[in-house]
Amino acid sequence: MKKVCIIGGCGHVGLPLGLVLAECGFSVTLLDINQKAVDMINKGVIPFKEDGAEELLHKLINRNIFATSCKDVIPSQDIIIFITGTPVDEHHNPKIHDVLNVIDKYLPLISKEQLIVLRSTIYPGTTEIIEQKLYKYFGVRPKLAFCPERILQGKGIEEIKNLPQIVSAVNDEAKKEAADLFSKVAAKIIFLEPVEAELSKLMLNTWRYLEFAIANQFYMMVEDKGLDFYKIFDAMKDDYPRAKNFCKAGLAAGPCLFKDTMQLSAFYRNQFFLGQAAMLVNEGLPNFLVSQLERKAGSLKNKKVALLGMTFKADNDDIRESLSFKIKKELEFKLADVLTTDPYLKDTSRLEDVLADCDAVILGVPHKEYLDLKIEKPYVDCWNVWK
Ligand SMILES: NC(=O)c1ccc[n+]([C@@H]2O[C@H](COP(=O)([O-])OP(=O)(O)OC[C@H]3O[C@@H](n4cnc5c(N)ncnc54)[C@H](O)[C@@H]3O)[C@@H](O)[C@H]2O)c1
Repeated sequence: MKKVCIIGGCGHVGLPLGLVLAECGFSVTLLDINQKAVDMINKGVIPFKEDGAEELLHKLINRNIFATSCKDVIPSQDIIIFITGTPVDEHHNPKIHDVLNVIDKYLPLISKEQLIVLRSTIYPGTTEIIEQKLYKYFGVRPKLAFCPERILQGKGIEEIKNLPQIVSAVNDEAKKEAADLFSKVAAKIIFLEPVEAELSKLMLNTWRYLEFAIANQFYMMVEDKGLDFYKIFDAMKDDYPRAKNFCKAGLAAGPCLFKDTMQLSAFYRNQFFLGQAAMLVNEGLPNFLVSQLERKAGSLKNKKVALLGMTFKADNDDIRESLSFKIKKELEFKLADVLTTDPYLKDTSRLEDVLADCDAVILGVPHKEYLDLKIEKPYVDCWNVWK
């Protein structure tokens, strides 16, 4: 039974991968600095919403998967997978040192015999920088691979098994070992060179971000003229195959799409105008929604506005980079009293209470719990769930 250690193993990407690898028979150690998450996982509790994860954890915990914050586990492993965060800084440039610092921290415990897999979404060229670092340290070429994660957050368990896995590596030995590892879990293996694999992941997230941006731009353009965007949207899509993937308007948020578009923009010397424009459109939607509400409800000063859904996407409990918080801030600038509610978060008010108490409503996220509501007050719903 091969031993795999996942650094960042209690996170949104590390944990589903760890569970799937354990299900496939690997001995998995989830190494993480988040002690609270480590303790929860060892008690059989998943720290965030992830379909199918809790059942799998109950089956496998303390058999062939466990979590720890103790790095002494590293030397006895066959494979080390790094999956920590890769944010951008205040200038929207990648914080490459965040990635390198994590490698530095564990490097004294890693040996040249171990396969090292990078799985975070990284700036093009990062694998090469890490290869150089490891080469200097080991004195021989490291067994280093970059195999990007492409799951939809919350659906990781299912998607890891069903999506093809892109595998890249700095030499044939690492490529073969990485392919062996992922062929145990993934439907298919696709080989690329490291910089190609790095770009593939960034371009996929950016393309998705742009899809949302064009829908959001059209929504604002049409609604600003007092017209009904979704009447036109439905007509355009009706039995018209080429518009099948045309998406609805909605807050394009979360920990990946924005920052990965900015990573790609930094890669192209900030000349990626489409990406920058998409960012301006998507980040401008919250402001537009608040002005839309003002048009419907009049001045928001001293009015109570219910904000339904605070997470970054529907039916999930993750608030990272959620644009609902931007809506809240904008409403507060208008001197409104904001009543937040979200069925997936503990520290918000009850839906019934805020709806009874408010003067107007904004739908932040279309959680399934909101889909059948009949709103009797002025509201804004860019997702078109209340029609
Ligand atoms: N969330 C997604 O759906 C998704 C999908 C594909 C790719 N990605 C990429 O995967 C990477 C990780 O994203 P995430 O959403 O899992 O982030 P996350 O914050 O949920 O998980 C990262 C984990 O790393 C841990 N960590 C941080 N520093 C550490 C250290 N020095 N040692 C050990 N553990 C450490 C954190 O405590 C956390 O548990 C990012 O590059 C992201 O862009 C995310």
